[in-house]
Formats: sequence, C-alpha cells, structure tokens
Amino acid sequence: MLESPISSNSPCILVTGGAGFIGSNFVLNWIASGKGRVVNLDLLTYAGNLGNLGPLLENPDHILVHGDICDRGLVGELLLEHRPWAVVHFAAESHVDRSIRGPEAFLKTNIEGTFSMLQASLEHFRSLPPHEARHFRFLHVSTDEVYGTLAPDEPPFHEKTPFAPNSPYAASKAASDHLVRAWVHTYGMPAIITNCSNNYGPFQFPEKLLPLMIVNALAGKPLPVYGDGQQVRDWLYVIDHCRAIEAVLKAGRTGETYNVGGSNQQTNLTVVLTLCDLLDELVPGSRYRPHQQLIRFVDDRPGHDRRYAIDAGKLERELGWKAEETFSSGLRKTVQWYLDNQVWMEEVTSGSYQKWVSANYGDRAISERSTVTASAK
Ligand SMILES: NC(=O)c1ccc[n+]([C@@H]2O[C@H](COP(=O)([O-])OP(=O)(O)OC[C@H]3O[C@@H](n4cnc5c(N)ncnc54)[C@H](O)[C@@H]3O)[C@@H](O)[C@H]2O)c1
Repeated sequence: MLESPISSNSPCILVTGGAGFIGSNFVLNWIASGKGRVVNLDLLTYAGNLGNLGPLLENPDHILVHGDICDRGLVGELLLEHRPWAVVHFAAESHVDRSIRGPEAFLKTNIEGTFSMLQASLEHFRSLPPHEARHFRFLHVSTDEVYGTLAPDEPPFHEKTPFAPNSPYAASKAASDHLVRAWVHTYGMPAIITNCSNNYGPFQFPEKLLPLMIVNALAGKPLPVYGDGQQVRDWLYVIDHCRAIEAVLKAGRTGETYNVGGSNQQTNLTVVLTLCDLLDELVPGSRYRPHQQLIRFVDDRPGHDRRYAIDAGKLERELGWKAEETFSSGLRKTVQWYLDNQVWMEEVTSGSYQKWVSANYGDRAISERSTVTASAK
C-alpha cells in the first residue's frame, strides 16, 4: 500500500479537479484504501460533479473545497493549513471540441491555473523543513495529445517525442507541461509529469466518446461517429491510470516524465461497434437492437488527430506498473457501471448538457455513408 513518506498521524495530499472523471476515481480509490486525507480543490464546473463523490461527502478524510486553481491565495492557504506531502494536479478544461468552440477557458485554467498551482506549491515547498521538503511532490497529470498525431506505421510516443499539439486543448496542456518542466529546472521544484492516453470508465461526463455513445444508444438516439471513424486511440481503463499515478507518487523520479498507456490501439469505429455488440448482449430487451443501426457518420472535428499510441515502457520498467484491465474486461465493467447508474446519467445529462450536445452535433452534416456493415467482433 502507498503510504505518506512523511511521518504524520494524518498524512494528507492536495488533489485538484477531484470531482471530475479521473480525479474522482482517484480520490475514491485513495481514501478507500486508507492512504490518508485528501483536500479536494474543485471549481465544480460542468465537468465536476458531487454525485461522483457521494460516499465521501460525509467522510472526514475528504475535505472538499469549492474554489479555483487560479486563486493562488486560496491554494497557498490550503497548503499552509493542511501541509500535504503531495499535490496531484488533475484540474483542467479537458474536452477538445469545447476547446475548438471556446479556447479562452482552456488557456485560463490549463495554463494560468497550472502557473498558479506551481507558484503556490513552490512557496510552500521552500517553507518546509528539510525532512518534509525531501518528500514533497508535485504531480502534473497530462495527456498524450501534447505529442500531436502519428502516421499509421510510426512508433508510439515515448517520453522524448517532441511536442506538436494540434488542438487548443492539446496546446494548453503542452504549455502547462512546459511550465512544470521549467519550474523543475529553474527553481528545483520536485515535480513529475505523467502523459496518459485516452481513459474510459465510470463517472466520465457523456460528452466524451464512450459515455456519449452509451447514453445515446440507450435512448435510441443516433451514434455520431466523426469522419470515417478510423482515428486510432490507445484506450486505458481509468483505474489503471489511477494506479499509475500512485506508482509515480510512490517511486517516480522528480523532474521526469512518465508516459501511461494501455498498449491497446483501436479505431473509434471499432470502439463504437464493440460497444454496440456489448449493449446488444447486456440489454437484450432493448427495442434499439442491433445498436449498430444507430451509427451515423458526421462531419469530422476540425484538425482531428489521426492516431495516438503510447509507449509506457519506462513506467513498466522503472516502477513495475502494468495495465490490469484488457479493453474487453474494462469496457464490460464500464458499460455495466453506466447501466447500473442511470440516475447519475440522468442528472448529468439534464439542462445545459442538452444545449451543448445540440451546439456541437446539431449543425454537423450526416454523411451519405451512414450505414455500417462491419462488425467489431
Ligand atoms: N480523460 C482522459 O482521457 C485524459 C487522458 C489523459 C490525461 N487527462 C488529463 O487528466 C486530467 C483530468 O481529466 P478528466 O477527464 O478527469 O477531466 P474532467 O473534465 O472530467 O474534470 C476536470 C475537473 O477539473 C475541475 N476544474 C476545471 N477547472 C477548474 C479550476 N479552474 N479550478 C478547480 N477545478 C477546476 C472540474 O470541475 C472537474 O471536476 C486533465 O488534466 C486531463 O488533461 C485526461
């Protein structure tokens, strides 16, 4: 079990964005396995959801703070009051389509917010006595999208692959990674960066591919596939990502970057076809079976990256991490979770969610080629 390296009766970490998809999975796991207190700083934007943290809302090991990472004064106060031995920085604007429609929020949260977290954390780090400073860590959670796009035959991204971000989201995350790197080299900040591939699993907001398709399929709505659906992503079950972050916190070397991925490359179309087959099996009474009939090819996302693939060899060799879920086992767990948590889905898909879906998909033309014949099996 991962324990705080600092001898304290009440070891604590500060997590940002812990009400979002990956952050809430991380916080739930961390507290359930008795690793100590979590101060969870989250602005509760549309992507942050207290419903993800239900079991923790009365738990004294979970201290939820509704606030903005850009508020450096607040971050400084939290660090002073709780004296965490680590900061795990998830908070971000995270959806590429939203970044295309409105990049400002991405620059503010992902760049200015990371700057604010770094400055406050550096000040805190410098104020610590040597035995605490030695163990302090700032872990910056980032994405494989900073590396840009790969041709079909190119080898996967490794930690030295040059950055070539193509969307406003990816550019803002790349900028935040560069800030972290500079804080390590210039100020001696004990920071580590992780760059992870596409996550899937419980609590993902249904603007992202898998939950969007599940929500639509269950309602008999069209399943919009961008372009020809041949964009390749490397899919990782969210709990495997959380385990990777724990491994890096425990034994990762400061100043280093670790790539995290599932060695599981799939085209978006294959993912949707597999999902449809699984829904046919798990919801045998659905009037929309076979769910593949709901697939519609729509106008592609501008500048859509064609392929991502991650080489996670460094993390595996140095820290002994390995993905535990296969795509098949992880997808089954994920779909079952959404089927078992329809109230959660209904809550997050009401109101402003509907407005976003019609803004993003309403004006996309449906391609002639909207009948699917391939099977994912
Ligand atoms: N989802 C993926 O597949 C994936 C893959 C690799 C890396 N990442 C990275 O992991 C992190 C988490 O991703 P996610 O998918 O859980 O995102 P998410 O959008 O589901 O959650 C983001 C969380 O951050 C909070 N937040 C946003 N702005 C904030 C601010 N200014 N101050 C405080 N909190 C704020 C939101 O309320 C939300 O709870 C991000 O940094 C993302 O870039 C995500």
